[in-house]
Amino acid sequence: MNINEVINYAKSKNLDTIEALLILELILKTRKELLIANIKKSLTKKEKKLFFDQIDKIEKGTPIHYILQKKEFMGIEFSLNKHVLIPRFDTECLAEEALIQIQQNGFKKILDLCCGSGCIGLSIAYYIRKKVILSDISTKALQIVEKNTKKLKLEKFVEIIHSNLLKCIKGKLDIIITNPPYLNKEELEIKNKIKKEPTKALLGFGKDGLNISRKILSQAKEKLNPNGLIIIESAPWQIKSLKDFAIKKGFSHLKTIYDLEKRARALILGQRDDTSIRDCTFNKDK
Ligand SMILES: C[S@@+](CC[C@H](N)C(=O)[O-])C[C@H]1O[C@@H](n2cnc3c(N)ncnc32)[C@H](O)[C@@H]1O
Repeated sequence: MNINEVINYAKSKNLDTIEALLILELILKTRKELLIANIKKSLTKKEKKLFFDQIDKIEKGTPIHYILQKKEFMGIEFSLNKHVLIPRFDTECLAEEALIQIQQNGFKKILDLCCGSGCIGLSIAYYIRKKVILSDISTKALQIVEKNTKKLKLEKFVEIIHSNLLKCIKGKLDIIITNPPYLNKEELEIKNKIKKEPTKALLGFGKDGLNISRKILSQAKEKLNPNGLIIIESAPWQIKSLKDFAIKKGFSHLKTIYDLEKRARALILGQRDDTSIRDCTFNKDK
C-alpha cells in the first residue's frame, strides 16, 4: 500500500487527511509536506502495521493527541502523555486574558494552578519572559511540565511546585490562572472518549462538579494580594453558580471570558475593595 492508499484507509475509519498525515509523520519520521509530495511511495510491511495499529487505537477511543504525544496551544507545541489533559482551544482564552492582565497591572507573582501539561503557565512565560509558578498534585504531570519547560528553554522563568491546590504555595500572589477539574461523575461516565484522559484531571467532585473550584476560591482569597486576580475556567453551564459562590466569598466579579464559540468559559475575579482595576480595564458582565 502507498501513502495515498493508507490515507484513504484512515479516512474510511473517520479520520481526516491531516490526522492521517500526522500519524504518518510520526511513523515515517518525514514531514507531511514531503509525504504529500511522495504520495505514491509504498510503505514497508512494518510501517503499514504500525499505521494500522494506531488507527485501531483511535477507533477504540484513544485521542489522537495521545498517539502523537503533542498538541499545539497558543501557537506553541506541547509534549503530552496519558498523565495529562490534552490542552483545549477553549482554554486559550484564559491564557490570552492572563497575558493582558499581567502586563496591564504589572503583575509579578504569577501562578498556574492545576497546571497539567503546563500549557497555560508556560505560554505566559514564553510570551512575556516573566517568572511563572506552575503547580499540580500529579507528580507525573509535573514531569511533563519539566519536559516542556526544557523543550521551550524556559528554565530561567519557571518554578514547578508539587502541591494539593494552594497548600504548598508560599507567599502572596498577584494572579492565579486555573483550569481545574470540573466534570461531575455522570459527565465523566458519559464522555466515553474523555475517559481516556486522567480522572484526576477531569473530576471536580460534588453533584455539580465544582467542589475543587470552590476549594480553590476559598483558599485563593487569602493568597492573593489586595489588587490580585484569579482567572478560573469552568463549563459554561457552571459559570453562574461559580460566580455566585465567588461573590459570597467576597470576590468581586470583574469579567466573564467567552471562548471561541462565544460560550461563557471563565471568570476574572478580584478583591472586593479593588475598584481601580474594575474601573479602568474591565467590562461588566453581560
Ligand atoms: C483540567 S486539568 C487542566 C490541565 C491544564 N491546566 C490544561 O488546561 O490543560 C486539571 C489538573 O488539575 C490537577 N489537579 C487535580 N486535583 C488537584 C489538586 N487537589 N491540587 C492540584 N492539582 C490538582 C490534575 O492533576 C490536572 O492536571
